[in-house]
Amino acid sequence: MSARPPRADALVFFGATGDLASKQIFPALQVLSKRGELSMPVIGVAKAGWTRDQLLDRARDSLEHHGGVDEDAFATLAKNLEYIDGDYGDAATFTALRGKLGDAKLPVHYLAIPPSLFGTVVQALQDSGCADGARIVVEKPFGHDLASAQALNATIHSVFPEPSVFRIDHYLGKESVENIAFFRFANAILDPVWNRHHVRSVQITMAEDFGVSDRGSFYDETGTIRDVVQNHLLQVAALLGMEAPSRDDPDAMRDMKSILMKSIRPLSPEEVVRGQYEGYRDVDGVAPASKVETFVALRLHVDTWRWAGVPFLIRAGKCLPTTCTEVMVTFRRPPAVAFGPKSITEPNRLRLRLSPEIVISLVALAKIPGEGMVGEEVDLTARHQHGTEDPPYVRLLGDAIDGDQGLFSREDTVEAAWRVVEPILGVDATPAHPYAPGTWGPEGAQQLAESVGGWSDPAPAT
Ligand code: BG6
Repeated sequence: MSARPPRADALVFFGATGDLASKQIFPALQVLSKRGELSMPVIGVAKAGWTRDQLLDRARDSLEHHGGVDEDAFATLAKNLEYIDGDYGDAATFTALRGKLGDAKLPVHYLAIPPSLFGTVVQALQDSGCADGARIVVEKPFGHDLASAQALNATIHSVFPEPSVFRIDHYLGKESVENIAFFRFANAILDPVWNRHHVRSVQITMAEDFGVSDRGSFYDETGTIRDVVQNHLLQVAALLGMEAPSRDDPDAMRDMKSILMKSIRPLSPEEVVRGQYEGYRDVDGVAPASKVETFVALRLHVDTWRWAGVPFLIRAGKCLPTTCTEVMVTFRRPPAVAFGPKSITEPNRLRLRLSPEIVISLVALAKIPGEGMVGEEVDLTARHQHGTEDPPYVRLLGDAIDGDQGLFSREDTVEAAWRVVEPILGVDATPAHPYAPGTWGPEGAQQLAESVGGWSDPAPAT
């Protein structure tokens, strides 16, 4: 294990009056304050014409709507909270920031702002001396395609070296996602069967039963592939497919994920089905003739010795029948010779439900009581836990302050993920077929999984 990096001594968040701050950042800051992990200046920056008191009111309001106010923790946070109202293009904003940072030697700058502003802010941080010794945290979307991701990396690296860059993919801060690697490598029984000899398919379904609601204009520039596949779901695929890290060190895990990501073949349009729910074009901010997908199903090829020939199927979308993210690993069937062809109705499956609850279960066959040797499915559930874990932003902000990069996306992995989706990014690469809200997407999606016995639909959440 390498030496622990030093803790940060100030936290600056740009975009302090925005939606992300309200929904995620303030709740996380309150938790960190409650635990005594935020005894440092916390400086919000935005251009809203606000005062510090207005920011505090916003913070309280945001907590009332997202998790509740803890008066003691809130008082601690309020004591540390400073606010700078200023334009990101104005050097005076950064001079003020340098002043408020005081003696801080290792500030964390969190850019909760649109990527189009990253370049301006990064440069201004350097010019004002605020970047000295600092770390930078950036939000997804990290680029719009491979070229823009590379350009963004170059911009950030012109000031911050990779060991100081923390790219947030909030999926990596989920307990259930971190558990994928733990469950795989902490259980000796899994490895012998976790390969092409025993696994018939790996499926990842991320279903949401709601539409794009008030995010129409964002979504219409993004679509499902950029919104959740290039980042969240390819990261999950990498955790499912990678080899075990050989050291207890955050970069060892990231190395293995990166190798796996680079082994995924760039997608071909024939193995991708895009869909758009009926009614999407009526959403505010969506173009009336939009061809952007709100659903995608695709088949990945993982060209490694372990996985060659095993389809990794991903399906994600809005307005689907349920809200649930689930991994299903389907094993090969045993020969049905011992008890006759009717005995083995289903293959074994391992279900890892990642949200809204954490469930690990093995779907197996047990004999139906009676004279015949016929099986029925039983769910051997190892863990069933309702969301009691830390929300991802608590974990990720805490780790950025601690300098632990393990749960952040590394440059090479992000770029490798863009390489995988690059051939199918344009709206003209494949058509977006309409589907009725509340269904599992367009017909073609079913065909994509036919050769492996179809999709395993997540059971309704319990
Ligand atoms: C975000 C996407 O990154 O992840 C959203 O922009 C999506 O469209 C969300 O709904 C899902 O995350 P979670 O944690 O709510 O499952």
